[in-house]
Amino acid sequence: MEQGLYLRRYNEYIEKSSQNNAELSLIAKGDGTEVMIQRIKAGEIFFVGPGDSKELMEFFYILEGQILLEQEDNDIVLQREDYFYIHHLKENVQFKVIEDVRLLYVSTKSVFQYLSESIKELNEIAKKSQEKDMYTHNHGARVKDYALKIGNKLGLSKEKLEDIGFASLFHDIGKINVPDEILKKTGRLTSEEMEYIKKHPLDGAKMVEKTYYKKIGRIIEEHHERLDGSGYPNGLMDYEICIEAKIIAVADAFDAMTTDRPYKKAMLPSEAVNELKILSGIHYDERVVNAFEYILKAEGVIK
Ligand SMILES: [Fe+2]
Ligand SMILES: [Fe+2]
Repeated sequence: MEQGLYLRRYNEYIEKSSQNNAELSLIAKGDGTEVMIQRIKAGEIFFVGPGDSKELMEFFYILEGQILLEQEDNDIVLQREDYFYIHHLKENVQFKVIEDVRLLYVSTKSVFQYLSESIKELNEIAKKSQEKDMYTHNHGARVKDYALKIGNKLGLSKEKLEDIGFASLFHDIGKINVPDEILKKTGRLTSEEMEYIKKHPLDGAKMVEKTYYKKIGRIIEEHHERLDGSGYPNGLMDYEICIEAKIIAVADAFDAMTTDRPYKKAMLPSEAVNELKILSGIHYDERVVNAFEYILKAEGVIK
């Protein structure tokens, strides 16, 4: 098949999420836009809302069934081949399903992730693995924040930024398999214990590979690789490591250095940046370190 062309048949989908009386299938996605098929049973109520983005445009086309929009003065029934869309919507709008409905649903922002069962599961595991080690509370969220700022500064595409966001949240998910004693150990790790730690990137990659978000597997697998080949699990060299993983590596190292850990106290942001700069071009990508330094200066975090 032509690269970049996706042919699919009726009822095929990338991932499906079902609730009692509703079902949502993601059928296409790219550059932040998602196309879905939504099925809702008669008697249900559903809402469309402004969400948290003013820019959002959502389009709904009725493939079959009937829905009702109740208004103060007159009710409006929409049926097969009718459609509506929202853009700059101010308040929630409520529809009632009169007859089992099947809608084509297009959104210019990704919404499926919030409904996806597999993403919910990953979130649960991420939460649990962070709880195993009290020092890593909110680590994923902070890494995401730093990594997105760096990615933005480097001018990465919307699609890459979305991948970085997810990969940041889930980069250490594989630590769920590392025994507690090792994660909480304050002293030096034995080489055997270290082997356990070194498994977490690949374990994490395998976990996301079961979801529709499988392409972030590579980023997770490479987040401990270092430019000079001294990283793990594969000892990749500079040109073999993806830019997304290089960004997360810097964000991750910065967060690890600036928060308390069982084996050492937190450093000042300026000290952590100095550490990153010493290893710039050796462990960390120079462009990434420079971009991060620029951001932290602009935000007044360092001088
Ligand atoms: Fe990690
Ligand atoms: Fe980490």
